[in-house]
Amino acid sequence: MIGEILPAWVTVAEMSDDAPEDTLFPEEEPLIARAVEKRRREFITGRHCARTALARLGVPPGPILRGDRGAPQWPSGTIGSITHCSGYRAAAVATSTSGITIGIDAEPHGLLPDGVLETVASPEEIAALDRLRNGNPQVSWDRILFSAKESVYKAWFPLTGRWLDFTEATVDVDPSGRFTATLLISDPRMGTDRLAGRWIVADGFLATAIALPRVVPEHDRSM
Ligand SMILES: CC(C)(COP(=O)(O)OP(=O)(O)OC[C@H]1O[C@@H](n2cnc3c(N)ncnc32)[C@H](O)[C@@H]1OP(=O)(O)O)[C@@H](O)C(=O)NCCC(=O)NCCS
Repeated sequence: MIGEILPAWVTVAEMSDDAPEDTLFPEEEPLIARAVEKRRREFITGRHCARTALARLGVPPGPILRGDRGAPQWPSGTIGSITHCSGYRAAAVATSTSGITIGIDAEPHGLLPDGVLETVASPEEIAALDRLRNGNPQVSWDRILFSAKESVYKAWFPLTGRWLDFTEATVDVDPSGRFTATLLISDPRMGTDRLAGRWIVADGFLATAIALPRVVPEHDRSM
């Protein structure tokens, strides 16, 4: 699913079930030593997807440790992002010569729990979602907005090392399957205050993705 909304320079691996326990590296075990079983499964499977995708870039298997605020520590020369929700796990990776940063997020395709939208979206964003809902009530637009913001954070953090609040970026969702995020705080390490992303709904899930290329190809300026 997520591969369909990422450019060709990004490599993806995804799974709907659990990876075998023995795919975990001993160095990763302390990271989930106190985790409940569900968290353990999603962590192991996310790491397995990451190693599968990295292998396609020619990177030999190795532990992927956890950096500041939970960001995965990608092998030298690579960038990436991991997501998991019940029934879907994925990792997207690329060489750091092709891309600057990647953020991916997957969610069940359903309404956000009551009260969440108001904490993650501005009144203007909520009004825009109302218009989208009027155009197509089948899509969980509020969850797409939420997921897009999580993708923004996952793309933002590895570059800046800074927290980004839901109120510090606005997201404009386009019914065509694209979105634009505008960062309301700037950081020179980001190099831009606008991020183009894509979204997809498929098989009961939705996913969003941002992939910031190092050089924007002439024929693909919109990605
Ligand atoms: C970190 C966060 C984005 C994860 O999203 P989620 O929907 O809860 O969970 P997902 O399964 O999609 O993603 C989890 C993975 O994100 C990655 N991740 C966690 N923290 C991260 C960070 N600071 N930077 C980049 N990636 C991170 C990890 O790989 C993690 O999986 P792992 O712990 O198994 O390695 C979310 O919990 C969060 O803290 N959000 C608040 C910040 C935010 O979204 N701001 C919006 C700005 S507009």
